[in-house]
Amino acid sequence: MKEIKKKILYSKETIEKRVSELAETISHDYDGKDVVFVCVLKGAFMFLADLTRKLRIPHVIDFVRLASYGSGTVSSGKITITKDIETSIAGKDVVIVEDIIDTGITLDFLKDRLKKSNPNSVKICALLDKEERREIKVDVDYIGFPIENKFVVGYGIDFDEKFRCLPDIYVINE
Ligand code: IMP
Ligand code: MG
Repeated sequence: MKEIKKKILYSKETIEKRVSELAETISHDYDGKDVVFVCVLKGAFMFLADLTRKLRIPHVIDFVRLASYGSGTVSSGKITITKDIETSIAGKDVVIVEDIIDTGITLDFLKDRLKKSNPNSVKICALLDKEERREIKVDVDYIGFPIENKFVVGYGIDFDEKFRCLPDIYVINE
């Protein structure tokens, strides 16, 4: 098996500081609102856990899991929901919590899909943004870090189910 080389991109201290800042901004923006955080499994689970523990506002969390047909590290464009949310979001303010926005196909699909349930608003909070890879324009309201077109792992993000548990974020196979 080919050896996977990894180089640190963001340390856990840097991530923690940025997640605190995002939580502060979101707490301010959603003060007094009926907010539901929808975490995209599996990659965003650690981000959601850290983000929500730093929020100063009451909120509900829920989870969605999506599958995109095709293999490898690029989404194919055809998305299906394999685990839907269980919370009624009608009239509520939804924040989608995602690990990485890449082509934008996943979040464009999810945002459209959630809007069909008549929420008051749907916004996106992505930890990492690979803007140069975008194929569909998607408004990302809260971004942790903009990154270059490199494959990253750690802090919940995997390569073939590996490296999720790492507390820092790494670039692999440069
Ligand atoms: P999009 O539909 O192309 O925006 O795909 C976004 C999804 O692709 C993310 O939620 C990740 O699951 C996956 N992805 C994109 N880039 C990476 C990466 O560098 N490491 C691991 N997963 C990635
Ligand atoms: Mg993902």
